[in-house]
Amino acid sequence: MKTFTDFPMKQYNTFGIDAIAERLCMLEERDDFRLAALSEELGNSPFFILGGGSNVVFPERYRGTVLHPVNKGIELVGQRDGSYIVEAAAGEVWADFVDHCIAHGWYGVENLAGIPGCVGAAPVQNVGAYGMEAKDVIDAVHCFEIGTGNDCWISNDDCRYAYRWSRFKGEWQGRYLIDRVRFCLNEVFAPDLSYKALSSAVEGIRELDARRLADAVVSIRDSKLPNPKEIGSAGSFFKNPVVGGDKFQRLKERHPEMVAYPVEGGYKLAAGWLIEQSGWKGRTIGRVGVYEKQALVLVNRGGATGRDVKSLAEMIINDVEQRFGVHLEPEAIIIECLNA
Ligand code: EPU
Repeated sequence: MKTFTDFPMKQYNTFGIDAIAERLCMLEERDDFRLAALSEELGNSPFFILGGGSNVVFPERYRGTVLHPVNKGIELVGQRDGSYIVEAAAGEVWADFVDHCIAHGWYGVENLAGIPGCVGAAPVQNVGAYGMEAKDVIDAVHCFEIGTGNDCWISNDDCRYAYRWSRFKGEWQGRYLIDRVRFCLNEVFAPDLSYKALSSAVEGIRELDARRLADAVVSIRDSKLPNPKEIGSAGSFFKNPVVGGDKFQRLKERHPEMVAYPVEGGYKLAAGWLIEQSGWKGRTIGRVGVYEKQALVLVNRGGATGRDVKSLAEMIINDVEQRFGVHLEPEAIIIECLNA
C-alpha cells in the first residue's frame, strides 16, 4: 500500500479544490484493502473513502486519512439465466467499465455511460441517469469490514438501494471498504428509452445498438454538464426533492409550469427548475457559481475552496426554501471544514 502525507488533492476531486490530505493511502492489491481495514489509524482519526472524487467537496486541509482504491480488473466470472456475471475492481473508472461492457456484448449499462467516478462508488450512492440506476445491474458488493478486516459479499437486497442512496450512505457509513462489485448484465441488448430526452435523441437512428445508445447518452450529458477537465464541478450538486401529493397539488396551483415526475410516495421535483426559477442559473458569487446550462450544477470559477462551495449551496437552499417551501439536500458530500 502506498501511503503519502500532506498529499495535494486538486487532481483527485472533479471540483478542482486545492485541498491537502493529511494522509492518503492508495489501495492497489486485495491485501491493501484488508490491511487498511485493520489499520489502527482508522480507529483513532477521521477517514474518508475516495473514489473518482466526482461527488465530494474537500476542506482546505483534511485532517485524517483518505483511502483511495486504485485496483484494476474487469472479469467475466459466469453466466446465469441469460445474464453475464461480471466482476469489476472498485478502482476502475466507471465510464471505462461501461465502454468495456459494451465492447464485450454485456448489456444493461448503456444509459449510465459517461458518468464520472469509479466503480466502487457506484453502489454507495446508487448512481443513476437517463432512466436507470446502478442498482438495476448490481448483483452484489464485495467488502472488507473496517476494524476486523473480515471480507464478505453483500447482496443487492441487503444494500436497500434508493434514489442516490444505499445503506453505505446510512447506517453502514464508515463500516465497509468496497474492493469490487459484481454485476448481472444482459446477453441481449434491450434499450431502456423511458427517459424522454434519450428516446428523442435516438429517434432518427436506424439500427440502434448499445454503442450508439451510449454515444447518445454521452452527447446529452456533454450538452448539459460541464466537462470536469475544463470546469470544476461535482455533477448534480443537489438531489431532486420528493414531495407528497397534497403539497405537490398546492405547488402546482401556484406554479403551473413546475417540472415534476410522479414517483412512489409523491412527486419528484426538478431541482434544476426550482433553482433556475429562484434566479440562480448562471450566477457567480466570488470563486463559485451556478452552471449556465444546468442550474443543478455548482461550478468552480477558479480557486474555489470548500467553504465557498458550502456557502453558495446554503444561499441556494435558503432561497428555494423561501420561494417554494421545498428543502433541497446536497447530493455531493461536503466534508466539514475542520481547520478553523
Ligand atoms: N431544468 C430546468 N432548469 C435547469 C435544469 C433543469 O428547468 O437549469 C428542468 C428541465 O425541465 C429538465 C428537468 O429539469 O427537463 C430535468 O433536467 P435533467 O434532464 O437535466 O435532469 P436532472 O433531474 O436535473 C438528473 C440527475 C443527473 C442525470 C439526469 C439525467 C439528479 C440529482 N441528477 O438531473 O445526474 O444525469 O437526471 O438522468 O438526480 C448527477 O447525479 O451528478 C447527475 C448529473
